[in-house]
Amino acid sequence: MARRIGILGFGSYVPKRVMTNADWSELVDTDDEWILSRTGIRERHFAADDESTLDLAAHAANRAIADAGLTPADIDEIIVASDTPEVYTPDTAAHLQHRIGAGEVTAYDLGGSGCAGFVLALDIARTRVHMASKRVLVVGVELISRLMDWTDRTTCVLFGDAAGAVVVGEGEAVRAEILSASAGTDGSAADILTLETGGTRRPFTLAEARKGGQHDIVMNGREVYRHAVRRMSEAAEKVLELAGRLKADVSLVIPHQANLRILETVREKLGLRPEQVYVNVDRYGNTGSATVPLALAEACEEGRIAQGDLVVLTAFGAGFHWSAAALQF
Ligand code: UT7
Repeated sequence: MARRIGILGFGSYVPKRVMTNADWSELVDTDDEWILSRTGIRERHFAADDESTLDLAAHAANRAIADAGLTPADIDEIIVASDTPEVYTPDTAAHLQHRIGAGEVTAYDLGGSGCAGFVLALDIARTRVHMASKRVLVVGVELISRLMDWTDRTTCVLFGDAAGAVVVGEGEAVRAEILSASAGTDGSAADILTLETGGTRRPFTLAEARKGGQHDIVMNGREVYRHAVRRMSEAAEKVLELAGRLKADVSLVIPHQANLRILETVREKLGLRPEQVYVNVDRYGNTGSATVPLALAEACEEGRIAQGDLVVLTAFGAGFHWSAAALQF
């Protein structure tokens, strides 16, 4: 009999502090009308001053482990997808292993994949379960508010902080089988959405900082928009094909949440009804690699997913990277 590999438990965490569009309009030259009509975002959550990436990740991880009916000692491997790590080195996964009290297991970060990181990590976890029969904790976490430029209205209003997590394993406890997954990269677009400072091309030095060199997110919004629509739609179609399923079989698509207009265009391209696409970008903004696991956990909690449903995850981000997965609940 074929092995059933998939998700055993879901978890998420959103920090308490809410930042509305009206709050932003007091800090930069923007207004609710522009943000809402261009992006669909109404508010986003920001971490408290005493919260770090690790705190967000640990809350989501502990919830996913508990939801799976497990304890941290049951986890064999940890993957953290994040572009806003706790510190530069070592990775957030090492900090998380210690914080949640997991054993001395394999743990590593998937950094630099932008908003596509979590679904790519989910695919890696699936392979690790297949090859090594592990139980893998997969976390998508971002604390973007602390690294963005609070004076750049073209980027700052878009983002929020959050974390989401799943435990991947196999057997009867699987609640959402991963039928297929796919990912791709177009590195020719690497400079279209980037945070350069800190790498060897532009090291972060005090001298550079004093000169006011680039240290924040740079994005060509329109280019990113165009590619996001195409790649997220194509990636969703690809995983359906790999799973031998049709668009007509899909109950719910959970796309990366960056912009409501992108989600609507992806929905039209896939020929789906509005209720077949999960949307929470209005409440959280773009939380990077956390959007998909956060939306997945919320959709489960809200009863939006029933036993037997086919759910497609699809994501796009810096790189450009894109990734998708088909889940059978
Ligand atoms: O997570 C993956 C990566 N990110 C994405 O997927 C984001 C993809 N891109 C987008 O969502 C959209 O391109 C944005 C929401 C970022 C921008 O929307 P747009 O319709 O492409 O606007 P634009 O960048 O072309 O800017 C239009 C105008 C500009 O003014 P001018 O030059 O026409 O006078 C901007 O300066 O809107 C202005 N603008 C703003 N106005 C008020 C830019 N940001 C703001 C703002 N408030 N916050």
